[in-house]
Amino acid sequence: MDKILAKALGQDVAQLAAEEKQRLLSRLLARLAHEIRNPLSSLDIHVQLLEEDLGELAPPVREKLSARIEVIHGELHRLENIVRQFLSLAGPSSVNLQPVEMGRVAGHVCELLRPEAAARGIEISLHVPATLPPLTADPVQVTQALVNLVINAIQAIENTGRIEVRVTADHKQNRLMVDVHDSGPGVPAGKQATIFEPFFTTRTEGGGLGLWIVQQIATAHGGSVGVANAPTGGAVFTLQLPLQPTPNFHA
Ligand SMILES: Nc1ncnc2c1ncn2[C@@H]1O[C@H](COP(=O)(O)OP(=O)(O)OP(=O)(O)O)[C@@H](O)[C@H]1O
Ligand SMILES: [Mg+2]
Repeated sequence: MDKILAKALGQDVAQLAAEEKQRLLSRLLARLAHEIRNPLSSLDIHVQLLEEDLGELAPPVREKLSARIEVIHGELHRLENIVRQFLSLAGPSSVNLQPVEMGRVAGHVCELLRPEAAARGIEISLHVPATLPPLTADPVQVTQALVNLVINAIQAIENTGRIEVRVTADHKQNRLMVDVHDSGPGVPAGKQATIFEPFFTTRTEGGGLGLWIVQQIATAHGGSVGVANAPTGGAVFTLQLPLQPTPNFHA
């Protein structure tokens, strides 16, 4: 983390206190979010132009393409929201609390990542109870957290396997849990805390920010995220959210 901060910010960060490093990290993330914004808006414009061009195509082709463009549009919109949130993280952190149907959010994330998983022979299954208690949360952030966990699961399995996404409620504790259980190699016992640190990665292409972001989101809701290895094999990441975050958490 020190090396990346030093490179990005041109400062000698080795001497700095942990608090100062966190502050620099937020600045770095804010800059990253800011830089991502420009290509995003140009993508948005080009997708709109593509939508206009669709009018010239024969109806069956048009229908097929417009469904795909709708997905791209939805994802662009989500990215824009994420970037906006990161930028607001540079200032006071905030969650935009609304009623959230966790079953729907989990369903959406599974649908989104199923084609990518299927291409690697990975099956994603979703388990949601018939009724769930009402949850108040930030739908964009919760979606982002779950996307990160399922993408990690896909990457951990690499090829051929299973991912189970399970939503459960603990009425007594007033909280809701989402488990993402994969059939990958699991997380070595000694690494189960380290993997949540910013910039920790074992993947050559990895940035090491995914789980840190999930943790930030969970904490901002007054919840938590943890990992364990299942007795049957593979890692189980559990995102826990209070049904009603206390007012302190959405200042
Ligand atoms: N489902 C999993 N099974 C086994 N190991 C995992 C799993 N999810 C994460 N890890 C480990 O935790 C590390 C950190 O994950 P994290 O999502 O923070 O970063 P990343 O996936 O490496 O990169 P990024 O998410 O920024 O692209 C991973 O590199 C991997 O070693
Ligand atoms: Mg990741």
